[in-house]
Amino acid sequence: MRILVLGSGAREHCIVHSLQREGGHVLFAAPGNPGIARQAELHNVDLTSGPAVAYLARKLRCDLVVVGPEAPLVDGVADAVRAAGVACFGPGAAPARLEGSKTFAKRIMAEAGVATAESRTAATRDEAAAALDEFGPPYVVKNDGLAAGKGVVVTDSREAALMHAQYCFDAGSPVVIEQFLDGPEVSVFCVSDGQTVLPLAPAQDFKRALDNDQGLNTGGMGAYSPLPWAPADLAERVVEQVARPVVARMAELGQPFQGLLYCGLALTTAGLRVVEFNVRFGDPETQVVLARLATPLSKVLLAAATGTLDQVGPLIWSSESAVTVVLAAANYPGRPTLGDPVSGIDAACAIPGVYVLEAGTKLNDEAELVSSGGRVLSVVGMGPNLAAARDRAYAGIQTIHLEGSHYRTDIALRAALA
Ligand code: GLY
Repeated sequence: MRILVLGSGAREHCIVHSLQREGGHVLFAAPGNPGIARQAELHNVDLTSGPAVAYLARKLRCDLVVVGPEAPLVDGVADAVRAAGVACFGPGAAPARLEGSKTFAKRIMAEAGVATAESRTAATRDEAAAALDEFGPPYVVKNDGLAAGKGVVVTDSREAALMHAQYCFDAGSPVVIEQFLDGPEVSVFCVSDGQTVLPLAPAQDFKRALDNDQGLNTGGMGAYSPLPWAPADLAERVVEQVARPVVARMAELGQPFQGLLYCGLALTTAGLRVVEFNVRFGDPETQVVLARLATPLSKVLLAAATGTLDQVGPLIWSSESAVTVVLAAANYPGRPTLGDPVSGIDAACAIPGVYVLEAGTKLNDEAELVSSGGRVLSVVGMGPNLAAARDRAYAGIQTIHLEGSHYRTDIALRAALA
């Protein structure tokens, strides 16, 4: 197949890496990054312009377009690609509101009978204060719209919670304030063609910047899969209790969900509760999930894009474990230091069972690889168990040099010891 992957992060590098591993495809990416450039031909396109992306897909004679990030989906890029007659993996603008508006997602969950935290939407400081007092600490305040990973604050400080609400109001967005959900969090990705739902293997993300879940929220500092401590039927339960009812409700509304429904869940003592939906592969969880997927990814994505997912059957998983560790630039998740040389990637990849996925990297005018974003790259380790996969990922990340960079040292630690 001729496949165009949209985006420039480690998630997109991971998708390209999985497709390349299958062999036989012609791969394109837009805009991509230097790591992706080693595996796909790069093109420049305005990712928020449906007509521009559709034109590129037609020009490249693509059989399939895979939309990586959420913003183009919310902007209707998948609708434009499909309207141009090219199969597209990713929901249209209407169903993408499951990520684009937390209030919309809560409404759909209520209509579909899906369990989630109780919540209030607030558009003023007084409404926010009343909702915070109703639920009490820890306070959970979420920007209603897309916020590039900066939308959620969980804090014991009422003042900090109100400040975040005010920050969102000042930026023109209401907030959703909700009850805090206790219990371990997991990510279960469910692929759908609008009707059939297929779950991928569960993974766990580490959202805080520092070890022991300290520090600020980030886009994700590492992940692992499988989850030896989780119920064996977790993925099936998520399909039954969450994904299938939501996909069915979207179909009833005439807004079929074709693509990936990211179910972020808390396993509370009262059962599964949805923390958030996203409408695209999560990063970094995708890195460990696709590392273990033995069914060809292209087959799954094309079937979802063409309404034939019922013909794919249960997915096949490697018995290996995968751990990924994110290398972040100095000061991330604050304003990161950019433009510093990155070295040691080849040495990491020379370690058996290790590979590197690039995210915030670029080539400078001297063609040196330098940092260009907060999350710079990820090192993925594979092994017969989580302890071995972890050892490899950490052996790999230790070969990489980026001045002032940091990474968590406890990714998958507890699960590997269990
Ligand atoms: N890892 C969290 C996300 O992808 O949104």
